[in-house]
Amino acid sequence: MVPDGGLRVHKQREERRVSITLMHMVRVCFVCLGNICRSPTAEGVFQHLVAEANLEDHFEIDSAGTSGWHIGDQADGRSRAEAARRGFELTSRSRRFVRDDFDDFDLVVAMDGENVAELRSFARHDDDRSKIVLLRTFDLEADGEDVPDPYYGGTDGFRNVFDICEAGCRGLLETLRRDHGL
Ligand code: 4NP
Repeated sequence: MVPDGGLRVHKQREERRVSITLMHMVRVCFVCLGNICRSPTAEGVFQHLVAEANLEDHFEIDSAGTSGWHIGDQADGRSRAEAARRGFELTSRSRRFVRDDFDDFDLVVAMDGENVAELRSFARHDDDRSKIVLLRTFDLEADGEDVPDPYYGGTDGFRNVFDICEAGCRGLLETLRRDHGL
């Protein structure tokens, strides 16, 4: 009988519990150009789907832009209006993607091919590059690769972005649930 055996087993159990928690925390960052239209929309839609599935404890969700043009800005009013119409809120503030984000996220989900090219230029090594994916690859019925930039268009474009983000985010969540046993 080891005198502190109970304590050691308790500590081992604690460590196992902590590592299981970490293993299941999936960190996702959505990225577009300005971080005011598409990536905040994808972030908000994904948060909404994760909450619906009661999986908030398993995900860390954020978004960023490859440019710094709108740092500190709320999501575009047209994106926020479309979110409100669908019953939820976009709360993010624009920030620029930084190289260290590759350390802080497991998956960097780009909205279009230009975002992918920019992100690849920030990447330091293959491990960073392997985290970059296009949102629409998770939508098996997608009719294109990119989430089209709605900024200079009308309301229809923002509606379309929401539908595309919803389909992509549903596929993404399904994939992550399967891969991580959630
Ligand atoms: P986002 O859209 O990349 O989906 O946030 C844009 C927002 C702003 C600009 C371009 C795209 N801009 O030229 O300022």
